[in-house]
Amino acid sequence: MKVNKVVLAYSGGLDTSVLVPYLKEKYGCKEVICVYADIGQEENLEAIRKKALDFGADKIYILDLKEEFAKDYCMPVLWANARYEGKYYLSAAISRPLISKYLVEIAKKENADAVAHGSTGKGNDQVRFELSVLALDPSLKVLAPVREWEFKSREEEIEYAQKKGIPVFATKKSPYSIDKNLWGISIECGVLEDPFKEPPKDAWQITKDPKDVIDEEVILHIFFENAYPKGFKVKKGSFINSIKSNLKGKIKEEKEFYHFVYEDNELYKLIMDLNTISAFLGIGRVDMVENRLVGIKSRELYEQPAPEILDKALREIESLILDRESLHFKLSNNQKYADLVYYGYWFSPLKEAFDEFNKSLLKNATGEVKLKLYKGNVYVLGRKSPYSLYDYKLATYDKEDAFDHIAGGKFTLVWGLPLRQIGKIKGMGGNK
Ligand code: ARG
Repeated sequence: MKVNKVVLAYSGGLDTSVLVPYLKEKYGCKEVICVYADIGQEENLEAIRKKALDFGADKIYILDLKEEFAKDYCMPVLWANARYEGKYYLSAAISRPLISKYLVEIAKKENADAVAHGSTGKGNDQVRFELSVLALDPSLKVLAPVREWEFKSREEEIEYAQKKGIPVFATKKSPYSIDKNLWGISIECGVLEDPFKEPPKDAWQITKDPKDVIDEEVILHIFFENAYPKGFKVKKGSFINSIKSNLKGKIKEEKEFYHFVYEDNELYKLIMDLNTISAFLGIGRVDMVENRLVGIKSRELYEQPAPEILDKALREIESLILDRESLHFKLSNNQKYADLVYYGYWFSPLKEAFDEFNKSLLKNATGEVKLKLYKGNVYVLGRKSPYSLYDYKLATYDKEDAFDHIAGGKFTLVWGLPLRQIGKIKGMGGNK
């Protein structure tokens, strides 16, 4: 395959770094342009730039995509309540389409004839990169050299780079494969490959072990406007005192609370702050065996502290503002949505239609949810919304009860009519 100019999805890790000289040597690329997407990995961007250039990149784009990621990728999966196989909130799965979007954009701008990624042949990420790229620009070639290269170990990759005159200091590799962004962290490989083995303490990257967290009930109220989280307040106490200087939100001090507020373009900061708070409280750990798209089962750990809170809270608002049929129908789509995203179908008509559907249903998702965070758990204490369909007078069993009980009896009769007819037949000895 003849490739002149290639745009590479660059992570700053060893694989995508070695890919730079490798693409030039093995694929004859004249120019390798790296693209690093900052979606909340919290890495040293200058070190990343330097590394790419040291490995021979002709140019590197370092893109701050945190806000776009938060708004256009994290929010839709939150609205869809989309946990793959009921657990994983798709952090890695939603990042590949966004990165691909920019690979395609920059390939156009730079007049490149191919894009490249560093995913292996047995994972899901190759599928997500490639499906996203071909959905956006089917004329672009996609190179995936890691699927076919000869290196069997990290040492061999380092040796290759050194032969090319690139000084690589063999840093100790983490025993795990880790993928991080502001929506969560995935951890796999090493001892985790035995699904019966308890994860070692060092496997968890940001969440504290629930048994080591402060013995204090932390009361947190979270505010939503039209399905977007806008801010939260935390009841004063030793926990929030110890951590509030690490948070990015602006603090408005109230009598009993610290209220954290965010500008309209600071959703990512809100998510990061919720991550900080919940990670310190041991919230958001998942340990699961999942079905990869290529058919393999794999054991994975996830840390998704902010999604855990946001999800619990938004479901409560939903319970107030959605009528029964809308809610039940919405719930029945969640798994399908999660599958589409996991399978690389981000830029598909069905997934996009689901987004419109969820957005429309959640336009009244405005309100406040009161939570208690305690030792790794999130408990719901209360919820309210100006658009709530809950009606005290209809719900109460007290003397203010305004519900028409007589109508209830008639309704029950009509609702049960088909069963009554069937019952009659049964009584006649039919339907045995
Ligand atoms: N199993 C998860 C997924 O498919 C995590 C993948 C993480 N990627 C990685 N290169 N470590 O979404």
